[in-house]
Amino acid sequence: MSTVNTKKVVMLKAINLCKSYSTGTEQFHAAKSVNLELFEGEFTVIMGSSGSGKSTLLYLLSGLDTLTSGEVYFKGQRIDEYSEKKITDFRSNKIGYVYQSINLIPDFTLLENVSFPGYVAGRSKNDIHNQAMNLLQMMGIAELANRLPSQVSGGQQQRAAIARALINSPEVIFADEPTGALSQEQGTIILDILTEMNRKSQSIVMVTHDIKAACRADRLILVKDGNIDGILELGKYSIEQLKARENQIFEFISERGQ
Ligand SMILES: Nc1ncnc2c1ncn2[C@@H]1O[C@H](COP(=O)(O)OP(=O)(O)OP(=O)(O)O)[C@@H](O)[C@H]1O
Ligand SMILES: [Mg+2]
Repeated sequence: MSTVNTKKVVMLKAINLCKSYSTGTEQFHAAKSVNLELFEGEFTVIMGSSGSGKSTLLYLLSGLDTLTSGEVYFKGQRIDEYSEKKITDFRSNKIGYVYQSINLIPDFTLLENVSFPGYVAGRSKNDIHNQAMNLLQMMGIAELANRLPSQVSGGQQQRAAIARALINSPEVIFADEPTGALSQEQGTIILDILTEMNRKSQSIVMVTHDIKAACRADRLILVKDGNIDGILELGKYSIEQLKARENQIFEFISERGQ
């Protein structure tokens, strides 16, 4: 009889991760010796109050910011010691990042915005164009390809930002409050897109303040004062479980006084 191998494979690992900022005479510790593992194919959600260190953690795990001390490994390779060239390649090819502020280039059309990281990665124009159009199609905004960000809605901009994060087929997508500035309806469209991508095995790490959005997680990580306050295993999402999951997450957060 064959057995199904359900063993989780570690994708990202943080050991004693610290990030301090100098604020005048004092040091502020935004990440305080964080130890964490993220797994391949998982939809991880990070929650925690404003200022608790969620964005900081995302920047450190994705190689977008330098650590004060500690170690970060991506598939067993220590990325915090990468050379400038290697970390640039890593950011360009292995990760996609959806920023807390949508952050599209205002003078570029949506198509140009989505294509841009493809050029940075040195890919051919044709290849990038075809994939960018496919992604815009997948996000339901292909007909807006030639508009500037200022000429589309916030939700449509956010969809373009997700398409941009996907252009180089990254192994993991980091999304920092991708539904934060959107209406419930637009937010649900974004969450459905992320859930669908995760079903096709895309690893996702998403920050949110919204319990409904957090319900999409396989695993929920609660952050407090620059450290992990708790981890909740939820398993794969299905819409039938929405209410039960909402309650479960609400209780988990309340128990920790958040
Ligand atoms: N460049 C900086 N200099 C000094 N302190 C900083 C800097 N960047 C962030 N911080 C501080 O680090 C802490 C964590 O910030 P971070 O942006 O990670 O919070 P967050 O959990 O993402 O909050 P939010 O939910 O509001 O986005 C905050 O208290 C913030 O003020
Ligand atoms: Mg933040």
